Amino acid sequence: MQITIAKTEQAASALAGKVVNEAVRKNPFIVLGLATGSTPLGLYAEMIKAHQKGLDFSHVRSFNLDEYYGITGTHPQSYRKFMNDNLFKHINIDLKNTRVPDGMAKDVDAFCRQYEADMKAVGGVDIQVLGIGSDGHIGFNEPGSSLVSRTRKVTLAPSTIKDNTRFFKKESDVPRFAISMGIGTVMEAKQCILLAFGVNKAKAVKGMIEGGISQFCPASALQMHPNTLVFLDEAAASELELKDYYKWCQKAK
Ligand code: F6R
Repeated sequence: MQITIAKTEQAASALAGKVVNEAVRKNPFIVLGLATGSTPLGLYAEMIKAHQKGLDFSHVRSFNLDEYYGITGTHPQSYRKFMNDNLFKHINIDLKNTRVPDGMAKDVDAFCRQYEADMKAVGGVDIQVLGIGSDGHIGFNEPGSSLVSRTRKVTLAPSTIKDNTRFFKKESDVPRFAISMGIGTVMEAKQCILLAFGVNKAKAVKGMIEGGISQFCPASALQMHPNTLVFLDEAAASELELKDYYKWCQKAK
């Protein structure tokens, strides 16, 4: 894991944006794994800015990590709508090349198998963008998820339902299930870029970077990933024991 601690969320997002935009420039046919939530919004803003300056996304393919189960892609809180509104509409990506799990899939197991097969068919994900839940989840792989799990239907943890209530009118509106890429799926991406901001993420970030590798903190599996970049603001990094060392390494580069 390569850890970058920036002063602010904006600064960290700009650094992550540079990496993604540079990769798109180098490989116009890149396959991106994308995430939703508040965390990647700054990174997506950087991608939109780069597009406005001429970066071409017309050949880029994307696969989103997850989608709530039981809602359609047009539901105001669906991750499909989130991606259209916050990124896809603002760059020249071909919507046909963007994939978000189908929250209405009738045969979920068949859908999940096909989603994995489709990722493989395009050569796998080159860069997987990730946020982290306050309980250490990535995608919707909650604590207790197998570290070799694949795309499947999962049950949201009460803490995630509580965290995500901010996007809905009330807690009971938050779906209880989702379709999510598994940890094993994420681990196959050639590079992972995980962002985390705010003190609410500090404990999960500590578990991910400095805890033992355990299903109690699914993000800790990334310690075994050969190419993971982590971008934090000071608040998210505040519980890291080796924070000064990570900053020292950052300077040395
Ligand atoms: C979303 C996703 C989740 C979020 C996580 C953090 O596609 O996969 O793992 O990244 O719940 O959410 P935010 O960014 O809203 O704090």
